[in-house]
Amino acid sequence: MDKKSILCIGAGYVGGPTMAMIAAQCPEYKVTVADINAERIAGWNSDTLPIYEPGLKELVEKSRGRNLFFTTDVEKGIREARIIFVSVNTPTKTFGSGAGKAADLQFWEKSARLIAEQAGEDKIVVEKSTLPVRAAEAIHRILQSNTKGLNFAVLSNPEFLAEGTAVADLENPDRVLIGSMVTPEGHNALEELVEIYAHWVPREKILTTNVWSSEMSKLVSNAMLAQRISSINSISALCEKTGADISEVSHAVGMDSRVGSKFLRAGVGFGGSCFKKDILNLVYLCECCNLHEVAAYWEQVVLMNEYQKRRFAERIVKNMFNTISGKRIAVFGFAFKADTGDTRESPAIHISELLLGECATLAIYDPKALANAKADLAGAKGTIEYCSDPYEAAKDAHAIALLTDWKEFAGYDYRKIFSLMEKPAFLFDGRNILNHKELFEIGFNVYPLGKQELTHL
Ligand code: UDX
Ligand code: UDX
Repeated sequence: MDKKSILCIGAGYVGGPTMAMIAAQCPEYKVTVADINAERIAGWNSDTLPIYEPGLKELVEKSRGRNLFFTTDVEKGIREARIIFVSVNTPTKTFGSGAGKAADLQFWEKSARLIAEQAGEDKIVVEKSTLPVRAAEAIHRILQSNTKGLNFAVLSNPEFLAEGTAVADLENPDRVLIGSMVTPEGHNALEELVEIYAHWVPREKILTTNVWSSEMSKLVSNAMLAQRISSINSISALCEKTGADISEVSHAVGMDSRVGSKFLRAGVGFGGSCFKKDILNLVYLCECCNLHEVAAYWEQVVLMNEYQKRRFAERIVKNMFNTISGKRIAVFGFAFKADTGDTRESPAIHISELLLGECATLAIYDPKALANAKADLAGAKGTIEYCSDPYEAAKDAHAIALLTDWKEFAGYDYRKIFSLMEKPAFLFDGRNILNHKELFEIGFNVYPLGKQELTHL
């Protein structure tokens, strides 16, 4: 084992980019990323990376084959590494006690057991996946139950990168958080990890806490970000009824420096692999602690998000003369946010299902997420066309439903699009990124979110 050898188990959205950044910033470390999914690893070793992320390809190419390696040989990786990050998925449990809320830790536990089995020397194990509070303790117990007398230190080092800006977030993080056990071994392990991040992150941005605070901070960060979105989305419903304009309200409220302007964009609801899962984790934790009022408070953030998606679909039906049966609806954007091909928990999935449930025909266009969209809607009943061109999607459509904030949507030739569509042509802007007045002047009936509609009807 080389002291300067790092392994990451899990070559996903978090493990891949994070390790690519560490390898680029710490050339004296050997960084290996291992995954049981051979197709994913082949992708990381090819010109077409398995995930789309601006700047990622360049970052990977800087170090790949030099001090950054992708492999399916998890066991060998464990034996060789001093520091092992675990970044496997921790989905919401679908079975047994805590189903629908608690995190399913089976992949994590399997990884821990494999580490205990393969290790020949003491190692540092770092939680990168988001785990329930006090998970590190359980993991430590599994690791320490090895019969070889080895010592493992477990650190919590949650990832705060957002998809679409992962490379920039990793390069210049608001903070790096590392939690350790309050023991001399824990402290030494913490110093080793701090040392790695200190290659490029200023020391004052590297926070060290106890391991439970670190785990808790990750859940609470995501819960509070999501809470802001649900708060502004709840007000968007009120704006549509009262004549207030959600963009104006959000701007005015956000200019109060105590509130801040970020994460106040109303939309079709938050998606992504983390927000819902982490809030439900928090809710489950509260319930286990008999804090039912606290649990109900946070659960409302998720319920409001479901309401917002439903509300958007219902607004489409209501305004298209109460029926969309047999009507073609062009869906612009399927990814859960711009600049990613990821569709996990994307609001587009649920909204599409609701529209299909009303017997609409969907023509879906997304610059990066079409393959994932196909997989997500594989079981859905109804007619769906997947279009590689937005104009093709709009052809003969009665309406456009804009669901993702891709910049390119604002740059299209909407005169041409209008001419291709059935009349009256409807446009529902679920992200408020288009020029609504201009679209209205072209002839569209425009329904922005949280604002008055502009219609010719
Ligand atoms: C993961 C976790 O899901 C999330 O809880 C945490 O906040 C960050 O890390 P992400 O990287 O987006 O998020 O997950 P995903 O893209 O699903 O990657 C996980 C990878 O782990 C997959 O490629 C999967 O094949 C791999 N894996 C899973 C293993 O290598 N071994 C296993 O036993 C299970
Ligand atoms: C989030 C956290 O931001 C990140 O710190 C954590 O590590 C993982 O989870 P991510 O899910 O990749 O990152 O994207 P994020 O930018 O947070 O967006 C999440 C969802 O909220 C998207 O669907 C986005 O469209 C939506 N959103 C965001 C809004 O609807 N309005 C906003 O103002 C901001």
